[in-house]
Amino acid sequence: PRPRRRRSRRAKGKGPRAKEPRKTGEFKVCVCGGAGGIGQPLCLLMAMDPNVKELCVFDLNVAMVPAQGVATDLGHLEKKAAVKGYVMEVGQKPVDNLEECLTGCHLVLIPAGMPRKPGQTRDDLFKINADIAKGIVEACAKYCPDAMLGMIVNPVNSVVPAMAELYKKKGLDPMKIVGITTLDVVRANKFVVRLPAPPDRVNVPVIGGHAGTTILPLFSQDKHAKTIDAEKIPDLDKHVQDAGTDVVNAKNGKGSATLSMAYAGARLGKSVLAGLAGQRRTECAYCKSEITDLPYFAQKVVFGKEGISKVLPLGELNEYETKRLEEVKVQLKGEIESGLKYAEENS
Ligand code: NAI
Repeated sequence: PRPRRRRSRRAKGKGPRAKEPRKTGEFKVCVCGGAGGIGQPLCLLMAMDPNVKELCVFDLNVAMVPAQGVATDLGHLEKKAAVKGYVMEVGQKPVDNLEECLTGCHLVLIPAGMPRKPGQTRDDLFKINADIAKGIVEACAKYCPDAMLGMIVNPVNSVVPAMAELYKKKGLDPMKIVGITTLDVVRANKFVVRLPAPPDRVNVPVIGGHAGTTILPLFSQDKHAKTIDAEKIPDLDKHVQDAGTDVVNAKNGKGSATLSMAYAGARLGKSVLAGLAGQRRTECAYCKSEITDLPYFAQKVVFGKEGISKVLPLGELNEYETKRLEEVKVQLKGEIESGLKYAEENS
């Protein structure tokens, strides 16, 4: 007998099987410094995230373009997000101006601040940028205390401890504040170049901090990267550490990493929102920590419905990484202390 042929759904006149629609979040996101070099492409990428229902672009009246302009422009994307711009005059306080902008926010991304110029370290920017961050963080504490705050503004190693301690003093959860170190992970993945594995299949955790020697990529923990010859690792490690400075020099006084940073910031931001929507995501981020003897550390965290739902252990380190970790700790300790001192003197 001829084998019975199964009739397709189409032959039965049924059309393709309806897929279970994936539930998306309905989140409100604000980008502070949203009209700047990082801010604009970051707003673009966040406006494309199906989890974003409302996007607020906040910047000063002296920004490169008005925040309303960025918002009107992005408001024409055929995406769900409604986009609104908020402008504040220089010298005014966010807490007096951002009630509507921040109320109801689930995620606030903060690239507001001065970028590095050639010859400047991230630390040179500390006082100026910490004051900018403080104004914004205080407004978040008042209008959206449950939101996750992603700090892009440098120096992340000192700004984050300063802001998290200010949150703690207000009785808020310091784990709501994370420093975005995702660009180090993105760079490490890209620099590994392990064909046929494309860079987005490589996942090198980068721990420690977000400046110079404090950046510690754990190449041994990725299945592609761990096949690299041991003698090539120090150069690769250094390449990741110096990559930000390479961009500063290549831009020749006209800014630091903006596009790759926006990509990395959006990766982290989207992971936070996916977590809030119930799809857990693991990322490295710089925040309050108990996994080493340092109180702040870039570590593997799991984003869930409440923000950070879990901090993962360091995992196994090889001999080179173990030695580097000691170097990281010495440098990072001082940078954390600058942040703690700022919080002490400015609360
Ligand atoms: P930018 O100068 O192009 O943009 C900064 C924006 O912040 C400007 O539009 C400015 O008007 C705005 N701004 C300044 N003070 C503000 C305030 N009080 N309230 C609201 N907005 C304010 O600089 P860019 O290149 O976008 O860099 C921003 C920050 O990100 C810098 O601190 C830079 O060092 C840092 N950065 C961090 C990286 C990371 O991996 N975490 C990588 C690259 C840069």
